[in-house]
Amino acid sequence: MDQYIIKGGNPLVGEVTIGGAKNAALGILAAAVMADQTVTIENLPNVRDINVLLQAIASIGGEIDRVNENVVRINAKGVRPTSVDDVFIRKIRASYYLLGACLGKYKHAEVALPGGCNIGSRPIDQHLKGFRALGADVRIEGGMIIADAQKLRGAHIYFDVVTVGATINVMLAAALAEGYTILENAAKEPHIVDVANFLNSMGANIKGAGTDVIRIRGVQSLKGTEYAIIPDQIEAGTFMCAAVATKGDVTVKNVIPKHLESITAKLLEMGAQIEEFDDAVRVVATKRCKPTNIKTLPYPGFPTDMQPQAAVTLALSDGTSIVTESIFENRFKYVDELARMGANIKVEGNTAVISGISGFKGANISAPDLRAGAALVIAGLAAEGYTCIDGIEYIHRGYEDFEGKLQSLGGMIEKVDNDKDIQKFKLKIG
Ligand code: UD1
Repeated sequence: MDQYIIKGGNPLVGEVTIGGAKNAALGILAAAVMADQTVTIENLPNVRDINVLLQAIASIGGEIDRVNENVVRINAKGVRPTSVDDVFIRKIRASYYLLGACLGKYKHAEVALPGGCNIGSRPIDQHLKGFRALGADVRIEGGMIIADAQKLRGAHIYFDVVTVGATINVMLAAALAEGYTILENAAKEPHIVDVANFLNSMGANIKGAGTDVIRIRGVQSLKGTEYAIIPDQIEAGTFMCAAVATKGDVTVKNVIPKHLESITAKLLEMGAQIEEFDDAVRVVATKRCKPTNIKTLPYPGFPTDMQPQAAVTLALSDGTSIVTESIFENRFKYVDELARMGANIKVEGNTAVISGISGFKGANISAPDLRAGAALVIAGLAAEGYTCIDGIEYIHRGYEDFEGKLQSLGGMIEKVDNDKDIQKFKLKIG
């Protein structure tokens, strides 16, 4: 079983290049199924969730040509909307985007109920409500979601909660519905805009993505395109936090600084120095950071996917911080692991009260989910001594070559799969 072994205490210094946004890529890959011509997608992150979705698309007849690690060509002419019921599919939440994509294109879709990180109950009622409003008959049978329609008709849909997944899924189906759809209380995340831009580059007619009202005029068909995915806001934010937690100096390249504003604002409050360039940010921290309060919110608020990384950073501040998680109810599972490293955090309901300590001590810990796993790696890099993290398959769902990028910044981290390798690492590092 793969683990990370980390010797902490080295400030991270240097430049790191951010890959394509995983959560945009998942929507875009599903959308690619809606065209009959070849679609070329660049800046694709080479992470497990993406590779699983590509396998799923292949399993329903899509032709996948992996030009290289970060470029894929998809031809969906041979896709048949038979059931997407693969063991891999159950592992990734975004498999449900194939529901919107196949329903839009074939007026029929069968997809296994989604899996994904266990960070809360994660209902899909808003997705189903949207499909039904477009005229689909949607039912759940034997663990499958089955959606059928004679034809899809545009509709005026008001989401009861701001949801990234439902906004993307219903936008996919509505792109090929007859007539005009209005999505109100839509999510505004950068990846929503990216999926809409991708669909428009295939010939869709979508306006307003990035605001809370998205207007979609249905078209009859979508054509091939070439498209480059936006940079990953969360990967960038993770390296920014790692720079602050290790009191380092990191230039995070290939980013859109506007997408990082909520993260930048909080790191500035913590006392970091941040310099913004056209497509890079430099984060410098020279001393122990200051406490601050954070509440996760839909974009442009502070992202829930950055909550663990920010909390780990605040656990090293010289005061008390309050972190409130308002999107998912089960996102503090890393706190018990961090306690093994000496952190002083009390969780009550959706709030964590963090009393900063002067340093973590290395320990054997376990990654409970993707972002919490990345946060624990940051803790290990900042800690005194050795930290061993298992459960790192979660981290590989969403971070491409995480250990390689950290090593290039001077982080002493290695992926190992047995005790002998751990001993070797310790001998090498000293
Ligand atoms: C996506 C991201 C995830 C991120 C989250 C919030 C992907 C693959 N995943 O997840 O990394 O943490 O956005 O930014 O893009 N909800 C309902 N009913 C629904 C759908 C959602 O009540 O039908 C609730 C959820 O329980 C949650 C909130 O809405 O409390 C937001 O969820 P949503 O934005 O849909 O998250 P995901 O799309 O699952």
